[in-house]
Amino acid sequence: MRRRIKKGICKLCASINSYLRYVRRVWLTRKLRLSVQGINICCGLQELPGYLGIDFSADADLQLDLAKNDLPFMDNSLDVVICISAINYFTRSRAREIVKEVYRVLKPGGIARFGVQDMDSIARRYVEKDREFFFQKLPDGSERFEGPTIGDKFAAWFYGYAIKGTPCQYFYDYESLRFLFERAGFSIIEQKAFRESRLENIEKIDNRPDQMFFLEALK
Ligand SMILES: C[S@@+](CC[C@H](N)C(=O)[O-])C[C@H]1O[C@@H](n2cnc3c(N)ncnc32)[C@H](O)[C@@H]1O
Repeated sequence: MRRRIKKGICKLCASINSYLRYVRRVWLTRKLRLSVQGINICCGLQELPGYLGIDFSADADLQLDLAKNDLPFMDNSLDVVICISAINYFTRSRAREIVKEVYRVLKPGGIARFGVQDMDSIARRYVEKDREFFFQKLPDGSERFEGPTIGDKFAAWFYGYAIKGTPCQYFYDYESLRFLFERAGFSIIEQKAFRESRLENIEKIDNRPDQMFFLEALK
């Protein structure tokens, strides 16, 4: 008897949770439609006019841990989803789910723009021992890339650059990221040059041209 009551309560809690998630999706989607054209997931300090910034940092417009939460928007509700220098912070299996989520929330014809550190070009620079690239300095004189040697600096794109204790989880080339977009169902998937895009304001969106490739996909 007790077990049955417990089971019933668990079922009720699950239904309430799923209903609350639905209400949140509807509410956020409506709010979004009135104010922005799209979302910038893992926005960090990037402020893009017309986009709702989502990040697990408290400075974002919407604070959300995307390793654990799906996008709180209705299916087919957004025009654009942007994700720059961030999909490598998720395991490949979570990244696959996130790309599926991006597909779900985009309207037919909607655009996803992803930029991520390019294993292909960075590996080439590693093999060529490109010291000029790996030992760049920031304006304050500190090292731009993590690690004391070229090998460590290269390995940091697999294991380093921890944010809130979580280092990079995966390293992509265009083909491996494209595969996730194909599996999610995107109809057109293209590699784009830095700031080459169907999107307006692309000069405010793309960054780190010396280390990233850019993928643009249409639902
Ligand atoms: C290298 S920064 C890139 C920021 C920005 N997109 C840019 O281009 O400058 C990676 C961002 O991903 C965010 N991030 C990493 N893991 C996350 C997670 N699980 N949920 C939400 N945001 C996350 C970090 O907080 C950080 O702002």
